[in-house]
Amino acid sequence: MRISVIGIGYLGAVHAASMAELGHEVIGLDVDRDRVAALQAGHAPFHEPGFDELLQRGLDSGRLRFTSDYAELADADVHFLGLGTPQLADGMGADLGHLRSAIASLTEVLPARGGAPTLVVGKSTVPAGTSRELAATLEQVDGARLMWNPEFLREGFAVQDTLVPDRLVYGVPSGDEQDERVAMLDAVYAPILERGVTRLVMGYEAAELVKVSANAFLATKISFINAVAEMCEATGADVTDVSRALGMDDRIGAKFLRAGLGFGGGCLPKDIRAFLASAEDHGVGDALGFLREVDAVNGRRRTRMVALAEETLGGLEGRRITVLGAAFKPDSDDVRDSPALEVASRLRAAGARVTVTDPEALRTAQRSIPGLCTVPDTQEALRDAELVLLLTEWREYRDLDPVATADLVASPRIIDGRAVLDPQAWREAGWEFRALGRPDSEAPEAPQDPGSSEGPVSSDEAITPGRVLFPSGVRVPA
Ligand code: UGA
Repeated sequence: MRISVIGIGYLGAVHAASMAELGHEVIGLDVDRDRVAALQAGHAPFHEPGFDELLQRGLDSGRLRFTSDYAELADADVHFLGLGTPQLADGMGADLGHLRSAIASLTEVLPARGGAPTLVVGKSTVPAGTSRELAATLEQVDGARLMWNPEFLREGFAVQDTLVPDRLVYGVPSGDEQDERVAMLDAVYAPILERGVTRLVMGYEAAELVKVSANAFLATKISFINAVAEMCEATGADVTDVSRALGMDDRIGAKFLRAGLGFGGGCLPKDIRAFLASAEDHGVGDALGFLREVDAVNGRRRTRMVALAEETLGGLEGRRITVLGAAFKPDSDDVRDSPALEVASRLRAAGARVTVTDPEALRTAQRSIPGLCTVPDTQEALRDAELVLLLTEWREYRDLDPVATADLVASPRIIDGRAVLDPQAWREAGWEFRALGRPDSEAPEAPQDPGSSEGPVSSDEAITPGRVLFPSGVRVPA
């Protein structure tokens, strides 16, 4: 099929290359000409495992190309909308400006199809009611139909999540499975559906709400455990013990129950605010009022980290602090609303001499905070630090050897903002070790952590360090 993807940011670029991978003829469009040129030249504008290869395969096959000109989209049968819906500059709601202008541009080129069936598929995260509003404009063009098919991909797993999603959600006006749009989108996703992926058809508003509810639920789960972490700090408990035991109840589940510096990124923070704003618009703001608290708990973790750093050093002015991690999560170079970067920035503002290192996100970090001192090499970044903060749990940082690292720094002090290090191992190597949600000193009978021999970290994983529970050394997997 001939497909266009409008908006080739993170979501759209991965979607476009994935659709080419499925065998479709794909054209990606963006108003950002630099982005178009980069993608057309095979350069991924962001770090995403597996994307570079996918992009190259699409370009080499001749089935994938990019443009800035809407006229080139006129002969596509299906148009995906992958445009961003950022937080409004002057409020909590979602800015639908990019989506509205894409629909306006499409309505200018679609009449050239002479009424041939044309499907427009929204993938962006939008407030309930958006599809119906956009359809009213779009469907004035003869043959044009709109459906909503929210995207659930995670950064760091974007290719995998697009090609093998947990589920496909189709929103059509009345939720009718016989709606002609359903068969058209089924034809696009045929290779995915053949793998047995479940497809759910529902009304426009339900499809829109699935997406915002999913992100709100994930954010709530993270803030829940971080609220518990505050209680742990007040009572001397270890939040990793609580989280590990909670996660073993499969009604609760271990994923997204990792306490630490909280959530950031281009989705969760703005989506909970937009969900709340949308509920208020519909007169049911009270129902989602708890999301305000979810946001507040999340923000307090950043404040607490800055306070802990100050307390540990007895003042911040002129002190040398090395921050491990700039990205909002590992395996990404995205620094949008990054908890790590916000902490680094607040420490700088308080007069500390901050050095930030990250395997992938230093370029984006510098763009976001001009003048930020960044050092790509971890060992180099650690040299002469008076305090180390682990703020994004890249594998490389989780695997740091406390003994060797102690030789690099000026004073062996570390605060683990992601609760991924083994406190005992670090303390035994002479470090003053502190962590969010964990006690400042080891209980005498605390079990030993065998180290970091686990597989790669998924952002979804519960990564409480594994524990040796039996003298025989039988290790219970995290
Ligand atoms: C999120 C959702 O997980 C995706 O399903 C959704 O499609 C996407 O937003 C979107 O709306 O586009 P993403 O922003 O890639 O995906 O990031 P997550 O993996 O959800 O992580 C978000 C933040 O939560 C990160 O800062 C991470 O460090 C933090 N987090 C995650 C925790 O603090 N604890 C956890 O247990 C899990």
